[in-house]
Amino acid sequence: MTDIQTAPQTGSTADVATGVAQYLTPVVHELVALAVNGKQAHWHVRGANFIAVHELLDTVVAHAQDWSDTAAERVVALGLPIDGRLATVADKSGAANPKLGFLPYDEAIADVVAQIDLATKRVNDAIEGLAELDPASQDVAIEIRRGLDKDRWFLTSHVAVK
Ligand SMILES: [Fe+2]
Repeated sequence: MTDIQTAPQTGSTADVATGVAQYLTPVVHELVALAVNGKQAHWHVRGANFIAVHELLDTVVAHAQDWSDTAAERVVALGLPIDGRLATVADKSGAANPKLGFLPYDEAIADVVAQIDLATKRVNDAIEGLAELDPASQDVAIEIRRGLDKDRWFLTSHVAVK
């Protein structure tokens, strides 16, 4: 079999990969938690805005899944594994357990927005920490930040008074 280097060689070193994993792994954990708890909210939301919020929450979940995949695969592309196992996510994520059972739409939105804010903190750390270390990985974090901001806007607009 051909002996081929699996990690990208230009501008990439073991130290860069380690640093990228350090910043993007917490992003993966919070996004996986957001996807799981976002589904919980999707299933249990109630109230006047039911259909809009129910459907929007599925979009938020799909985005969180996509972005966790993008962040995880950036680490793997640099040659390191990532720990996205369920028990690890539960242990490492700072997300509070959402309330059990049915929720009025404003409470469901508040829960999910709190988790978006938590993920955004990890993303901000990554944007700051990766600026010098690896701009290509920073770009991943910036893309996620833009998306989280937009999803937060869409959610909070259902409860904003003006
Ligand atoms: Fe559904």
